[in-house]
Amino acid sequence: MVVLGIESSCDETAAAVVSRGEWILASVVASQMNLHARFGGVVPELASREHLLKIAPVVQEACSRAGTSLQQIDALAVTEGPGLIGSLLVGLVYGKALAQALGKPLVGVNHLEGHIHAVLLENKVARRVAPGLPEAGFPNVALVVSGGHTSLFHAESEMASGESPGFRYTRLGQTRDDAAGEAFDKVAKLLGLGYPGGPLIDRLANYGNPHAFTFGPIKMRGNPLDFSFSGLKTAVLYRVRGTALQSEAEERQAWRRAAGSAPFDELRAHCSQQTLDLVASFQHAVIRDLVTRTLQAAEACGVGCVFVTGGVACNSLLRERFAEEAGLRGLHVFFPSPALSTDNAAMIAAAGYFKLLSGNFADLTLTAHASWPLGVARATSA
Ligand code: KG4
Ligand code: ZN
Repeated sequence: MVVLGIESSCDETAAAVVSRGEWILASVVASQMNLHARFGGVVPELASREHLLKIAPVVQEACSRAGTSLQQIDALAVTEGPGLIGSLLVGLVYGKALAQALGKPLVGVNHLEGHIHAVLLENKVARRVAPGLPEAGFPNVALVVSGGHTSLFHAESEMASGESPGFRYTRLGQTRDDAAGEAFDKVAKLLGLGYPGGPLIDRLANYGNPHAFTFGPIKMRGNPLDFSFSGLKTAVLYRVRGTALQSEAEERQAWRRAAGSAPFDELRAHCSQQTLDLVASFQHAVIRDLVTRTLQAAEACGVGCVFVTGGVACNSLLRERFAEEAGLRGLHVFFPSPALSTDNAAMIAAAGYFKLLSGNFADLTLTAHASWPLGVARATSA
């Protein structure tokens, strides 16, 4: 079965053609990063307009790279939510219209479930090539960590109908304020570093001392598997405000605006050692928190497998720390490749494939949901 996936929940217009839920025949992502960069964050109205311009060419490009026509597609999978409503609607309405015109089945997919399936998809293909590789299996604990989400799930597999597996998700915790990627982006903005902040901080942190600034562990009342990053972001702000770091950030911002583009080495040259130390210390605190709570969840659920996915899963320190800590506990930790960690449509097609197998089709009443929690919440005393 060949599925056309469509994703437009935030600032990436994406389409992918995926065979049998695992072989990516084509995956095309049109990023709006440059459009939003000068605002230091995604501007929803601009995002929807850009999706409108890009959706048809991106779908065509995916089909042409896959060497398939729209008529040869067996089914469509579109992101139904959560996300920016205007952005979601563009992909969803386009997918619905296409399904109707082609007379093909359609499924709506939760974006977070898509991120989890990015791990499965690549692991299945990798294991076909090298069967000795560990299996990204179920049950597992999945951390979805991006610019819009930071959530922990206990994911289980069950036979939905006949031989086709369905998945059950229990939400163990989630952020109460900023998502981790959002905190990276906001800290980068307040330091005048540019957008998106995550990849910049990731690289700049290599030149700083992560222990130069002390940010204590983030304390959570109630559910210890919830997250909160706004306090840490404010703590960074207090270290900057009214100090030499603030004037440095303003100068850097003005330099970036005037220069138009800022190659990484030049950006680094415009950062004092103190700024580099602050960036490294902030990153260290975020990653320590993500790793600690995720491993605590894995222990509480008694699973041997951890999935880490979403844009922040590209972070090099996060990958390093997870690999080390999981190794010490005898856990297997899996990440998608960087291209599948950030938003893409292959993950939507892969998650949609299983919904199609279980006959979970959408009809023309399918609509977008800005907020759509995945699975059921569980209060845990872990
Ligand atoms: O999954 P994604 O493409 O979109 C959302 O669903 O939000 O994630 C984008 C987020 C941004 O906040 C970006 O700064 C962050 O992922 N990000 C990173 C890195 N690469 C992307 N954060 C930390 N380190 C990175 N290397
Ligand atoms: Zn995402």
